[in-house]
Amino acid sequence: MNLVAFLGSPRKEGNTELLFREAVRGVEDLGHRVSVFNLNLLKIAPCQDCGGCEDTGICIFEDEMVRIYDAIRSAERIILASPIFFFALSAQVKIMIDRCQCFWCEKYLLKKPIPQGLYGRKGLLLLVGGMKKEIGMQCAEASAAAFFRTISVPEHKTLHYLGIDAKGAILKHPTALREAYDAGRELVKL
Ligand SMILES: Cc1cc2nc3c(=O)[nH]c(=O)nc-3n(C[C@H](O)[C@H](O)[C@H](O)COP(=O)(O)O)c2cc1C
Repeated sequence: MNLVAFLGSPRKEGNTELLFREAVRGVEDLGHRVSVFNLNLLKIAPCQDCGGCEDTGICIFEDEMVRIYDAIRSAERIILASPIFFFALSAQVKIMIDRCQCFWCEKYLLKKPIPQGLYGRKGLLLLVGGMKKEIGMQCAEASAAAFFRTISVPEHKTLHYLGIDAKGAILKHPTALREAYDAGRELVKL
């Protein structure tokens, strides 16, 4: 099974990364390998809305998104993890998502959705916010759901945690790490 996982937090060893690692560990413990992309470390230009992908479904930019396009195309399972920044996904995640407009063109304009592959395509979304307000989760969920829809991932599970702010605070949450680990295992079960 092909798996790709996107870490969208810039804070090293932060709450999102700790949660993310548990989900990846859950997957790996069942014998699967995961292609991990730490989005903060990649050089990805934001979408320029140039229309270059409209006729071809291919982005005209050749930066580190090229590797991500290949990974998304062949993945049967996709993990996306983001902190909530200003009631939304982090910029690192959003830049990557916007560059998936070429998949939107391929699916909706050229009528060529990414094939479902042998095992179908499923997603796991992990969100961590410092405030106890649902609005950030709702905005991030809407954006991530549009991403999953665009890249032909018809179903995804979301785990979100509110009120987790200080670095490492997720470690004190009674269930979060275990839930992320279990969600990773569940993701690869057929
Ligand atoms: C730029 C910035 C904006 C933030 N905006 C929000 C917000 O709108 N809502 C919220 O719940 N938390 C917000 N936070 C808090 C983070 O979501 C929180 O600290 C989270 O645990 C960070 O995860 P990390 O450790 O993986 O970076 C913000 C933090 C930063 C740095």
